[in-house]
Amino acid sequence: MLKDLSRRSEEPELMDDFREGLQSLQIVYDDINRVNRILGGNHITINAVSKLIADNPKSVYTIIDMGCGDGNMLREVAEYCRKKHIKVNLIGIDLNEEALQLAKEASNEYEEISYMHHDILKLDPSTFQCDILINTLTMHHFPNGNIMVFLQKFVDLAGIGVVINDLHRSRWAYYLFKLFSTIFIKTSTAKIDGLISISKGFVKSDLIEYSKGFRSVSHYIQWKWAFRYVWIMQPNQETPV
Ligand SMILES: C[S@@+](CC[C@H](N)C(=O)[O-])C[C@H]1O[C@@H](n2cnc3c(N)ncnc32)[C@H](O)[C@@H]1O
Repeated sequence: MLKDLSRRSEEPELMDDFREGLQSLQIVYDDINRVNRILGGNHITINAVSKLIADNPKSVYTIIDMGCGDGNMLREVAEYCRKKHIKVNLIGIDLNEEALQLAKEASNEYEEISYMHHDILKLDPSTFQCDILINTLTMHHFPNGNIMVFLQKFVDLAGIGVVINDLHRSRWAYYLFKLFSTIFIKTSTAKIDGLISISKGFVKSDLIEYSKGFRSVSHYIQWKWAFRYVWIMQPNQETPV
């Protein structure tokens, strides 16, 4: 029988309770980063960030990555900004101290990147400010109720815009990932979590429904290869979805 993906799964991911040590965590992140590299997942965020920067000229930008994991996305943003001579302060925030340890070690040569240990759900927007907030492959970890809580914080603290990049909940994605993972993914954690992640992902109507909670914000929601949605929110611009 085909997998029922009509509703978002509430199954927890193995990575949410990963206790196998730093070295094993690095191997799982190597798998995740390889998938992103092959399927171009990080480019979606980079393209959205570059558009927000082009539309909102400033001398320096503060960009926060909420749920930064091992910091791979931030290092790609740093590389992009170096190439384009864009000055940035990049801040990675995550709940997982071991992921942050890996992120710091891998970011030694990036003085523009710093990391903070924090729970997205407990953020106080008045103590943080940034121009652009990015959130890649993290929103699907949360149940619908929590999503609205942290999206409100994101909108409150990002001056220019919020870029969500997350998975499309689709049978095509599910079964193609199953096939893809037999060739390109080494760890069973990444194979299992990849499938759980897709079943916790989103269809466009989910994102449109969330967006209705933010009326004084403009929303751009677009499907992207391979089975992602990019959702760009720009505060203080009233444009209907
Ligand atoms: C699948 S990983 C994505 C990592 C990275 N953004 C990427 O694209 O590869 C999800 C990340 O969200 C983090 N996370 C989950 N719940 C969180 C919370 N409440 N506060 C902060 N980070 C959280 C996890 O620790 C994990 O690093």
